[in-house]
Amino acid sequence: MCLLLVPFIFFQLLPATIPAVAPPLHPGYYAKSCPNAEYIVRDVLKKAMIREPRSGASVMRFQFHDCFVNSGGPDWEVKLGRKDSLTASQEDADAIMPSPRANATMLIDLFAKFDLSVKDLVALSGSHSIGKGRCFSIVFRLYNQSGTGRPDPSIEPKFRQKLNKLCPLGGDGNVTGDLDFTPRVFDNQYFKDLVSGRGFLNSDETLYTYWRTREYVKRYSEDQDEFFRDFVEGMIKMGDLQSGRPGEIRKNCRVVNGGPPVDLVVEGYKDRRILSYET
Ligand SMILES: *[C@@H]1O[C@H](CO)[C@@H](O)[C@H](O)[C@H]1NC(C)=O
Ligand SMILES: *[C@@H]1O[C@H](CO)[C@@H](O)[C@H](O)[C@H]1NC(C)=O
Ligand SMILES: *[C@@H]1O[C@H](CO)[C@@H](O)[C@H](O)[C@H]1NC(C)=O
Repeated sequence: MCLLLVPFIFFQLLPATIPAVAPPLHPGYYAKSCPNAEYIVRDVLKKAMIREPRSGASVMRFQFHDCFVNSGGPDWEVKLGRKDSLTASQEDADAIMPSPRANATMLIDLFAKFDLSVKDLVALSGSHSIGKGRCFSIVFRLYNQSGTGRPDPSIEPKFRQKLNKLCPLGGDGNVTGDLDFTPRVFDNQYFKDLVSGRGFLNSDETLYTYWRTREYVKRYSEDQDEFFRDFVEGMIKMGDLQSGRPGEIRKNCRVVNGGPPVDLVVEGYKDRRILSYET
């Protein structure tokens, strides 16, 4: 059964090692066992979005939990039948989760491990068109980038003043800021912001400062349709990744079936990019 609204992040459930053989995913996976699954998902999500429009941020993580949704922006058919892992390893998750401090080469290398291209990296980073990040993730770039004792020079000065106010040195690291100027709309504003030096996270702005990723950022900032096309392509590619390890379909996405009632997610939030949706 598919449960919703789980603040899992990008690679949370992806394998740390590269896939062996697993049955292919396909859109009709629940046609017999739960014919109403997609309707239920859509209905619950629609209600959630009315209650809290920012819940669209969770959409980007849905396909790992076999869900289908139309979020505004692009939509696509999600292949279903993904198994959740039988364990939850913090180490595995840490090894594969992109850090908000990462620079472009680190991100490119990480994505390459999953056969995701530079283009996929930039397009999928566009998921930061919605959501928020914590001050905790950016104070180093505001006050001590790379141990220089100085801010990241790629931050546009006015924007930096704004961030300094939001995230003063020694302030509450849990205060959040928008990841782009239209945090409730899935659009290409995120890329426009990067071009003007107004990316929130280091792992965002680095996509514009580094030459290998800059071209895609520029293109998406000028052409939203191209962004949507490449985003969908990347999501489908990412959705096809499977570990080949034994798995199960969790009754509760947060917990291994029969496992202790622990929240597998909270720890993963430490110093990680976060998106605004909370259950
Ligand atoms: C990213 O950081 C690594 C390790 O500090 C460094 O080797 C690499 O050159 C950096 N890449 C960019 C684009 O700055
Ligand atoms: C900046 O970072 C460097 C290296 O991590 C550290 O040695 C230094 O104390 C930091 N400076 C401040 C003002 O935090
Ligand atoms: C931020 O939130 C985390 C997790 O909820 C909590 O453990 C931590 O104490 C908070 N930090 C501050 C400075 O409030």
